[in-house]
Amino acid sequence: MAKANLIDNLNRALPAAARKPLAAIVRDAQSEALAIYLVGGSVRDLLLDRPTLDVDLTLEGDALALARRVAISLEDVRCTVHPTFGTATLKGADFRLDVATARVETYERPGALPSVHPGSLQDDLFRRDFTVNAMALAMTGDQRGAITDPFDGRSDLEARLLRVLHEASFKDDATRILRAARYGSRLSFRLESNTMRWLRRDVTYLKAICGHRIREELARIFQEPQPERILLRLSELGALQAIHPTLSFDSSRAEAFGKLREIHPTPSRTIYLALLAWEASRPEATAFATRLALNKRETEAVRAVAAVRALERTLSAEVRPSRVVELLSPFPSAAVWALAAAGRESARVQASRYLHRWRYVKPSLDGHALLAMGAIPGPQLGQALRRLKAAKLDGEVRSRRDEEKLARELLNAGARTRT
Ligand code: CTP
Repeated sequence: MAKANLIDNLNRALPAAARKPLAAIVRDAQSEALAIYLVGGSVRDLLLDRPTLDVDLTLEGDALALARRVAISLEDVRCTVHPTFGTATLKGADFRLDVATARVETYERPGALPSVHPGSLQDDLFRRDFTVNAMALAMTGDQRGAITDPFDGRSDLEARLLRVLHEASFKDDATRILRAARYGSRLSFRLESNTMRWLRRDVTYLKAICGHRIREELARIFQEPQPERILLRLSELGALQAIHPTLSFDSSRAEAFGKLREIHPTPSRTIYLALLAWEASRPEATAFATRLALNKRETEAVRAVAAVRALERTLSAEVRPSRVVELLSPFPSAAVWALAAAGRESARVQASRYLHRWRYVKPSLDGHALLAMGAIPGPQLGQALRRLKAAKLDGEVRSRRDEEKLARELLNAGARTRT
């Protein structure tokens, strides 16, 4: 592809709102005689002609100062800086541009976060995960439009191979194992043979990675169209088990992931986590949540799956909707989605109806309406409301008039018991 074309293609692929700030960044770098490059996944995607959503820029110079100058010169752009990593983000309504100071990374021990120092573009490319992610596109100066590709990533792009830059790559940063499976599935790339050998050898280094980083990589996996393909692969490689012994994944769970998306096209991370923990006992789920540093909401969802799973047999086709609501409403909805995907047939159907319809059903009459009909405030009012809701769920009342009739009966019966 001709030099200028890549930059034209980048501009075409970007949301219109991102073009002006990108041009401002490039102008600023140029006026300060600094070299700025598009790097990482954005270059890979540009060469593959896949839509680029992320823009990652690397500057041989102070990225924070540049980002601040540019943000001041533009309206509606927010600048966030992370001085420890030498990175800055410019964000607008529907775009995000990341600018980083080119850096060298050194790993003190496996699993630790690297220590970071300013460096050259070459240093910055050398710290990366795979050759196809270690290319840079010059945005300024005479080199504008030229690709720097020290590890011959372009050949690997053509051969559709993921290749690490050196033998200690997975040991330095074992999250790259999760990333390898994710890119492999998304791009339909294979692992190059040495890379595969080193990955298998170093899979246990995942044990040393903190929960927060694992959770972030899992979240990225869940954003892929078919996360189950990636999780199956990771299970075959022993990576899930290395993260935590309760983390397992097989073809029946993969099938449940597919079924989940038939009833919920965009499952949240919490739902996927609950489904991932589907077979865990409550103590196992607690250990799983601790290992992955899950937040409160996620922890509650995974801890609830054992109790929800215990309802599988109870939720036969004969159970009335009001009873299904009574049984399922105490649980976080994510755990119920897991039941709707992984449970036995009748429980799946019941859970799905609950999630799509029954949990939203409300009688037309509320507490005020009952008070206006002469109800006395207190527990009996609550009981009458629950009874009305159950009647509506089970189809015993269909109209407001039916509800009023039932309400009068309930209030009269209440009055009789009081006298
Ligand atoms: N990177 C790395 N090792 C990691 C994380 C990131 O080498 N553990 C590098 C890679 O060069 C990657 C770049 O940082 O391309 C940006 O990281 P990220 O946004 O996670 O990767 P993308 O390739 O942009 O991923 P995606 O396409 O999923 O957005």
